[in-house]
Order: sequence, then C-alpha cells, then structure tokens
Amino acid sequence: MLLLGIETSCDDTAAAVLRHGRDVLSSVATNQDEFHAKYGGIVPEIASRRHVALLSAAVEDALDRSGTAFADLDGIAVTCGAGLIGSLVVGVAAAKAYAFALNRPLYGVNHLHGHVFAPFLDRPEPPPFPFLTLLVSGGHSQLVAVESATRMRILGRTHDDAAGEAYDKTARLLGLPYPGGPALDALAQRGDPRAHTFPRHHASGDSLDLSFSGLKTSVRYFLESDAGRDARREDVAASFQAAVVDVLMSRLRTAYERGSYNAVTLSGGVAANSALQAAFRSWTETDSIPAFIPPPKYCTDNAAMIAAAAYYQRDAIRVDALTLHADPNLPFTLSS
Ligand code: KG4
Ligand code: ZN
Repeated sequence: MLLLGIETSCDDTAAAVLRHGRDVLSSVATNQDEFHAKYGGIVPEIASRRHVALLSAAVEDALDRSGTAFADLDGIAVTCGAGLIGSLVVGVAAAKAYAFALNRPLYGVNHLHGHVFAPFLDRPEPPPFPFLTLLVSGGHSQLVAVESATRMRILGRTHDDAAGEAYDKTARLLGLPYPGGPALDALAQRGDPRAHTFPRHHASGDSLDLSFSGLKTSVRYFLESDAGRDARREDVAASFQAAVVDVLMSRLRTAYERGSYNAVTLSGGVAANSALQAAFRSWTETDSIPAFIPPPKYCTDNAAMIAAAAYYQRDAIRVDALTLHADPNLPFTLSS
C-alpha cells in the first residue's frame, strides 16, 4: 500500500511517499525558518502563503525521489488538525483535490497522532502495543498511553508553555537565533548542568501534568540579576536543559511505573534533544525497557509520520474527499 502524506499544520511544507506504513520511499520538508527568523517566531500569515507557494513542488519532489507516479498511489493522507488554520487549509485543500482527481481514498490525520507514529518509520519492528509515549514538541508536551493504533489516552500534559516553546523562549533570552531549541542544545553541550539550580515543576497529588513557564521565568530573572549578567551562557543553557530533562524524565518514569506497557517511545521536535535522549537511553537500558526514538528528521514535523498514522488508522479516519475540513482545535481522541 503506497500513501502520499501531506503536512502543512505549522511552518514546514512537507510531503512524503510511504510504503506499507513504515518504509519511507521519500520525505521532503521545505523549511521556512528564514522567513520567520527576523520576527523571532512563526507568523501565521507568512506560513500559509509559503505553503501555497511550495506545496505542489514538494509533492512532485516527493514522488520523483520515491520513483513513483500519481497513478501508483493507493491513497492520500493529510494533517487536518490541530495547528494553524491558515496553514492547515492549504494542505487539506490540496489533498482533497489530489484524492478527487485520482479517485483515491483520503485520510484526515491528527498531527499529534502523526508524532506518535514517527517511531514506526524505517524500522523492521515497530513499537509493540500498548506503549507509552512522551510527545514533546513546539506546541505540545504530553504523556500518552497508546493502547492501540486508534485508542490513545493523554495521561498528563502542559497547560502553559510546551517544552519546545520553553526552549525557544529561553534561547531568545540567551541571544540565540530562532528556532532556539537546536541552538540551545548545542550551547548546553559546552556548559556545566550543575552550575545553577533552576526550579523543577512538581505536579500536585497524582497528577502527571507538566509545566515549564516557571522555569523560563526563573531563567529570565536570573539573567537580569548581577550574578546572571556574569554567568557563562553555556552554563545557563546546560542548567536550564538539566531542569527540563529532569521534569520530563521524572513524569515519564512515574507514568511507566503506574501502567503496564510493552515499550516506551519519544517523539516530537524536542525528542531530538541530546540530553533528553541520553537520559532516556540510560533509563531504558538500565531497566531493560524496549525503547524507540525516531531519527531527528522524523522527530520534527514531517509528512512520513502523517502517512504512517493514516496507514495504521485507515479504517477509522477515511473521509470524504469533498467534505473534509481543517480543524485548528481537532480533539486528540478519535471519535468512533
Ligand atoms: O515537532 P516540531 O517540529 O513542531 C511542532 O509540532 O511543534 O517541534 C519543534 C520544536 C521547536 O520548539 C524546536 O525548538 C524544538 O522542537 N527542538 C528542540 C531540538 N530540536 C528541535 N528542542 C530542544 N533540543 C533540540 N535538539
Ligand atoms: Zn509537530
């Protein structure tokens, strides 16, 4: 089964061709960072206009690189939510047109479900259900119990800044260019994570919720203080990163101990973080837990993960090519 995936929920214009739900024949993503960098964040209107300019070339490029043609496709998968409405509608409109013109099934995919399926890509053996996912991206940080391809439960999440957002905002405080996550990660590798102690969020009672806004604010106050002005930026970056990783890992371990899982996975842009990956690997190797981390190109937004979600969820998410709508607030749980 050959699926074309299309992803335009935020600022990456992405297309991919996927065979049998896991073999990535091609995955192209046109990064828009240069258009947003001078504003220090994503400007929705610019993002949607860039998608219009780039999407058909991205789709043709994905087909070329995979050595396939439109006629070979068995279906079209597109992100229909959650995300920026102006960005989502570009991908959804294109996918509807392809599906209608080619007379192929159309699958409307939840962007976050795409991230959950990223660890399935280019793997001989996918994670066995039920598994526990730590999904950490620019817009979301959540722990998800993945019971089956279509049954997923959020166990805990952030109600304020997502982990990636905290990275981007803290990177800006440190004078790093946008997007700040990878730059802060690189800077932190040259610093001492024990140089400064920043606060770790503790969830109340049994809650597995997360929060990073207090941490970000505490770094800001520190940088504005006398001690902060003299501190090495590498050490501040490393100490911030240590606090983020501590909070994420402690929630993940608690969630794992409370449930019964066959594996744990990491996904989302922040899953590419070196310190988080090191802590995750050390825990899962010591405790002999089957663990899956996608390669960096599938941690951040891409269309191959969207096609993977469509493959595994295909009976539940097939939609009419004429009536699919983009939904910026698409609920996480699939309606049955
Ligand atoms: O999943 P993603 O590509 O987009 C969303 O769905 O949000 O995640 C992007 C986020 C950005 O906030 C970016 O700074 C962060 O992931 N990120 C990282 C790293 N690489 C990307 N954060 C920390 N360390 C990294 N190496
Ligand atoms: Zn994403």
